[in-house]
Amino acid sequence: MDVVRFGEDRHEFFDSETYLRSYFKGEHCIEYNEFSLRCFQEFWSEIGNTNLRVLEFGGGPTICNLITAAPYVKEIIFAEYTEKSRREVQKWLEKSPDAHDWSLHFKFVVETLEGRNSEDVKIRECELREKISHILACDINWQDPVQWPSSCEVHSFDVVTTSLCLEACVTSSEGYRHAIAKLKTFLKPGGFIALYGVLGETFYMVGQEKFYCFPLSKELVEETLINEGFKTRGEMKIRSWGRNANCDANGFFFLSAVLLP
Ligand SMILES: C[S@@+](CC[C@H](N)C(=O)[O-])C[C@H]1O[C@@H](n2cnc3c(N)ncnc32)[C@H](O)[C@@H]1O
Repeated sequence: MDVVRFGEDRHEFFDSETYLRSYFKGEHCIEYNEFSLRCFQEFWSEIGNTNLRVLEFGGGPTICNLITAAPYVKEIIFAEYTEKSRREVQKWLEKSPDAHDWSLHFKFVVETLEGRNSEDVKIRECELREKISHILACDINWQDPVQWPSSCEVHSFDVVTTSLCLEACVTSSEGYRHAIAKLKTFLKPGGFIALYGVLGETFYMVGQEKFYCFPLSKELVEETLINEGFKTRGEMKIRSWGRNANCDANGFFFLSAVLLP
């Protein structure tokens, strides 16, 4: 029988190494990740401010969508649900020999998208390691979805980023609205939310394991942001996608919005 994993199943069945190997490694990984890397690069270059505080919510075992953020921020709080995924990011921070190799992603962002050189690639890796100040547990279902340590006193941010996460946690439109409302509590007025996600997806595979996803529509994402007091920044960017054995999404999207005062 086809078992579809959801919620707490992830602690046991979401294999972070398999996820990284399947979607973030090998010759096709940049082609697969290019859309999100480009969208985040455009987002950060448009924001332009520096010294910002960022919350990355549900980051999984991945740091690639933060590469372009590093020069603009003074601190990134990295929040993730599963311990295995938090450990993967910690390994990268510590330059552990068995950490995931993100060098292709750094090279693509810094050299290809930003037009800098190979020395800048190395500088960016150090910069991102320095800027990720905490790796914290999170769960969108908690009343306060991030487990804050006492060393992290300020819980308000200029930017909240989240990728492929909320649709993996909720089971209804109302649940999606609640999730956005909770992330909103972490933003200062005038702060930004940047969402990268999937449209129309009901499942995705990590190795042999099948995971549930709530199928989002463009309209639902836009309406939810507006109803929660955001003003969307421009049109939603969409990359069409053909269903395949790994997921049945019909597109990937990026949308950012500003929280109205
Ligand atoms: C498809 S992965 C995306 C990971 C990463 N952000 C990326 O872009 O590759 C979905 C993420 O949602 C997280 N997640 C699942 N349930 C969650 C919950 N209840 N609260 C917060 N995050 C959750 C998972 O641990 C996982 O990291």
